[in-house]
Amino acid sequence: MSGAILSVRDLEKTFGSVVAARDISIDVPPLQTVGIIGANGAGKTTFVNMITGHLRPSKGTIHFEDRDITGLPSRTITRLGISRSFQVAQVFPSLTVIENMRAAAAIGRGKDSVIAQAMTPLDSPQARSEADAAVDLFQIARYRDARAATLPQGVRKLLDIAMAVAGHPRVLLLDEPTSGISIEEKFGLMDVVMSALKTRKITVLFVEHDMEIVGRFADRVLAFYDGTVIADEKPQTVLANPKVQAFISGTKPLNEDALHA
Ligand SMILES: Nc1ncnc2c1ncn2[C@@H]1O[C@H](COP(=O)(O)OP(=O)(O)O)[C@@H](O)[C@H]1O
Ligand SMILES: [Mg+2]
Repeated sequence: MSGAILSVRDLEKTFGSVVAARDISIDVPPLQTVGIIGANGAGKTTFVNMITGHLRPSKGTIHFEDRDITGLPSRTITRLGISRSFQVAQVFPSLTVIENMRAAAAIGRGKDSVIAQAMTPLDSPQARSEADAAVDLFQIARYRDARAATLPQGVRKLLDIAMAVAGHPRVLLLDEPTSGISIEEKFGLMDVVMSALKTRKITVLFVEHDMEIVGRFADRVLAFYDGTVIADEKPQTVLANPKVQAFISGTKPLNEDALHA
């Protein structure tokens, strides 16, 4: 698969008469950081869900490290090395930060396998040292004894992402990691996340609405419109694309020229 870590061919997903994704073909090389943009309903989450196994594609194939993972259960895909975060942080609210992190480190393959691996001891020396390293890397050590329910939103997001990478995935998908975060906090949050993921050598695909964030953190941008990718290039090129400006970033009014460009 031409050295790609993730390779998607002719992917399609329909829900009854709704075509949520169509004609998506993408190769992601290792260590690339891919931004995914698109208006509400454009198909971004559907695309993420097909890669992580939360949705079964109607058509097409997905290869990860040359293995066909199309339609495999999410738990299997997580175990193979693809992890994710959701738009709403999935932490255990009554546990402290370090307890959450130890649980994720002990389970080792991310939150999808909690039930399958419920018998894993949560307090091994290895889980402890991994949890300590993770709270340092994600700069949340000063909250280590705070219950997750009491955390500021940005810290909860960092914990959620730290837990998603506890199983040492090679690919991580982040669905709107900065949703619900104030503009002032967004850049700081993404700085911490992206440098942590670089340190861990993780290939990242992240869904993001804020074009400044995309421009700053993505090596490459996929622009989704009506279930398909209408632009796939460097951020500057995609953000200057008239269709993207008309349909997605809102920097140009919708007009006929854009439609036929
Ligand atoms: N489970 C579902 N059942 C029916 N339609 C769905 C389902 N999930 C998504 N859709 C539809 O698919 C399209 C793409 O949705 P989605 O992938 O959530 O978009 P985005 O994440 O870009 O906002 C939308 O029209 C949405 O209504
Ligand atoms: Mg979505």
